[in-house]
Amino acid sequence: MKTMLWKDNQLLLIDQTKLPDEITYFTCKNYQDVIYAIKTMVVRGAPAIGVAAAFGMTLAELAGEDLQKAADEIKAARPTAVNLFWAVDRVLKSDNALDEALKMYDEDIETNKSIGKHGAAVIGDGDTILTHCNAGALACVDYGTALGVIRAAFHEGKKIKVICDETRPFCQGAKLSVFEMQQEKIPVKLIVDSAAGRMMQEGKVNKVVIGADRVAKGGVANKIGSLMVALAAKRFNVPFYVAAPKSTFDFENSIYDTEIEERNPKEVLYFRECRVAPEGTDVENPSFDIVPSDLITGIITEEGILKPF
Ligand code: MRU
Repeated sequence: MKTMLWKDNQLLLIDQTKLPDEITYFTCKNYQDVIYAIKTMVVRGAPAIGVAAAFGMTLAELAGEDLQKAADEIKAARPTAVNLFWAVDRVLKSDNALDEALKMYDEDIETNKSIGKHGAAVIGDGDTILTHCNAGALACVDYGTALGVIRAAFHEGKKIKVICDETRPFCQGAKLSVFEMQQEKIPVKLIVDSAAGRMMQEGKVNKVVIGADRVAKGGVANKIGSLMVALAAKRFNVPFYVAAPKSTFDFENSIYDTEIEERNPKEVLYFRECRVAPEGTDVENPSFDIVPSDLITGIITEEGILKPF
């Protein structure tokens, strides 16, 4: 199942806010619809945001809109993932937005399969792999990065198990990663985020594989909670891998220059529309962590496994 489809000059996105209960599509008829979908997490995950943004640029071009204005507005939808900026700039430099977006759509799947192939080499038969957030097919066009590594190892016949952190507050792990693993019949267990350290302390985790929104000098940015997982992995000698395509790399800036998205306090105050803290509670809700390079064993890319820089 692809996360998005281009059909009749419209972009159809699986509405990830409705998963895992309903598989429905959100239709983008103009680039403003794409911005809305990115902001509200109808589509999320760095590579998926990038390709959706490329189709947003296509919708702007087809409507004869000012492409620079559309590009600036699309780039402002979410601040952290490099792929959004990379994709919009790539379309801006191209001769034809639709051709470029369709090329990026196909490339995403091929890239993820290569990441999977390289990453599967570090996964042992019988390993239990812990992952955080959703760096799966749903975070890309298909196949996934971190979950692509898991898929590839499983399809090679390795008897692996997966542990998904629930990933509060948005619960991408519980809602999306568990769903993807169940669809493929890959053995999966859900834990609360704060149980990750205990699982490692008990020797129940052989590898950690997560995705990234940005890879830059000094480390990677990924979903909030990634830093605590990395710290626990270091303490308990569990190899910690990041799976990411080159389109997520920023070679110009330090990772500490990354703008960390601050999301709506309601995500923390409410759980499935039920308030869990007193009225008037002050909240800080950073959506991403910085994981420093010294906590990372390797970065699995489509070109092979790199040392963090
Ligand atoms: O806020 P999200 O759901 O867009 O965050 C997603 C992540 O943090 C993923 O791990 C990252 O984008 C990599 S997706 C292949």
